[in-house]
Amino acid sequence: MPQPDREKTTVLTLGQKKARGERIAAVTAYDFPTARLASEAGIDLILVGDSLGMVLQGHANTLKVTLDEMVYHTSLVTRAEPRALVVSDLPYGSFHGSVERSVQNACRCLKEGGAEAVKLEGGRKRFPVIQALLDAEVPVLAHLGLTPQSVHALGGFKVQGKLREKAREIFEDALDLEKLGVFAVVLESIPQELGRKISAALRIPCIGIGAGSGCDGQILVFHDLVGFTSLYLPKFVRAYADTRSLWLGALQKYIGDVQGGRFPDAAESYHLGQDIEDFFK
Ligand code: KIV
Repeated sequence: MPQPDREKTTVLTLGQKKARGERIAAVTAYDFPTARLASEAGIDLILVGDSLGMVLQGHANTLKVTLDEMVYHTSLVTRAEPRALVVSDLPYGSFHGSVERSVQNACRCLKEGGAEAVKLEGGRKRFPVIQALLDAEVPVLAHLGLTPQSVHALGGFKVQGKLREKAREIFEDALDLEKLGVFAVVLESIPQELGRKISAALRIPCIGIGAGSGCDGQILVFHDLVGFTSLYLPKFVRAYADTRSLWLGALQKYIGDVQGGRFPDAAESYHLGQDIEDFFK
């Protein structure tokens, strides 16, 4: 049900939702109309994801997305003033150098983009930068499991944590991230048993994508959810509509109407004022 007047979601209210046993529905958005729609639908958290590198820009992975692009897309989303919490994804390379530089980069997402939090991929290797962000009052959404910015290091987009050692590493990272003070964790492409175990062990919300139904919430890429992508889709995606066919059909009808002279008609055209009608006689 649309909730135009609902309370603004914050990092605190998300935690309260988990405490009440209410599940969190999150989605990506990269622009004003999508953010408006997501907010109107009642979405809790909007992620301005670096998945825009694949979904909008057509790249094979997310590595080429720049900080400027993330700030720009975040500003489009926050201009919609969504009731959902807006989280900006820190792109590859923007938090891998010095901690000082990483904090400055993240602050741009809040100061220029208007984000209310940032997400960054990775576990223990990223703890120093996560700690510095939290010290700088930047709320952090962590991201464990399949971290797409590590696509080359991982040897592809592969499910993570199927075996004991990696599963244990992800589990321990999640516990430590909670201790550091992140407000939530995204768990991507891990076995459902591991998703459930982590979600049960943490007080902060665990938002899954390909991590099974035992998580405290779910996130999907908007374009996948509404069936507007022609890209390969992992098995965890559920398309709730086939809008690509709708848009394609509309475009084909338009082409036919233009070619057949049926668009525009008289009602869709402007007309002369009376005093100059004789000029055209
Ligand atoms: O970039 C993104 O959209 C993401 C989500 C899919 C979790 O990281």
